[in-house]
Amino acid sequence: MLMPISADQVRSLHPYELRILLSLEHLMKRFEWVPLEMIGGATKFSEGELGYRLGRLIANDLVRYQKVPYEGYALVFNGFDALALHTLTERNTVTALGSLVGVGKESVVYEALGLSPVILKFHRVGQRSFHAVRLARGYLPDEGHLPRIFASVYSADREYQALKLLHPAVKVPLPIDRNRHVVVMSLIEGPLLNRAVLPDPRTTLDEILVHVQTAFHRGAIHGDLSEFNVMVEGGDCYLIDWPQWIETTHRNAEEILRRDVGNILTFFKRKFGIDRSPEEAIAEVIA
Ligand SMILES: Nc1ncnc2c1ncn2[C@@H]1O[C@H](COP(=O)(O)OP(=O)(O)O)[C@@H](O)[C@H]1O
Ligand SMILES: [Mg+2]
Repeated sequence: MLMPISADQVRSLHPYELRILLSLEHLMKRFEWVPLEMIGGATKFSEGELGYRLGRLIANDLVRYQKVPYEGYALVFNGFDALALHTLTERNTVTALGSLVGVGKESVVYEALGLSPVILKFHRVGQRSFHAVRLARGYLPDEGHLPRIFASVYSADREYQALKLLHPAVKVPLPIDRNRHVVVMSLIEGPLLNRAVLPDPRTTLDEILVHVQTAFHRGAIHGDLSEFNVMVEGGDCYLIDWPQWIETTHRNAEEILRRDVGNILTFFKRKFGIDRSPEEAIAEVIA
């Protein structure tokens, strides 16, 4: 998996290179591989300048070039990361990129500095789930070519919407900003639930179910809830990782809610021997 570009790389990006990246981003709505003439037309750079700048972008792995089936250029995730970081830096949302926190199924997560320590979640929708997402959800057009990069933008946007809808009624990270496929949110300082030491697991379980209930009453079901998407900070539990949330009006809402609650109950049963009836827990959430 490609790593996001370094902060230095973003700073050293030449204005012409930035302009090429932006043109490519725009043209990729129409071309999977953008022909050289189109980039030339959009940027108005001379052939020599364009060749030199594209060469540098390719060497830095921000842009890819392919010869078949037709000659063209495309932004790759690194290039997209650079554009998002550039924008977030210009807005002063981010002043410095910190260390890698984790590489998830569908994301690369970094610490960063803004006004306070923040988390940058770079969404990376995989090829397989991209197809699944496109079929299962209403919010992606289901025809035509849509690169994974743009699917990742939808994914980040969905997550950001959930955080805005739920914070602070539900304990979720504070949504700070979003650009392209990157969500900026507050840093939760603590382990994931699966590794947390819990002095009083019953209370923790109750707390999580109250969050699920409050989210439900605001119209949202997490959709991927488990001990790997709950973080424990001090005595508080935070629900993270929201891109796949669904509205409570979704036709599979009940089934998905059952699965979410089931995952949590299974974890507390296996690890702490707490036996709670799923039916009662669901009834409480919906009540
Ligand atoms: N707000 C946050 N504060 C601290 N760590 C976070 C935060 N959000 C995510 N992480 C870390 O990044 C990992 C991956 O994030 P997550 O949102 O679960 O995405 P994925 O879909 O890749 O699982 C988490 O397991 C957690 O370790
Ligand atoms: Mg996760």
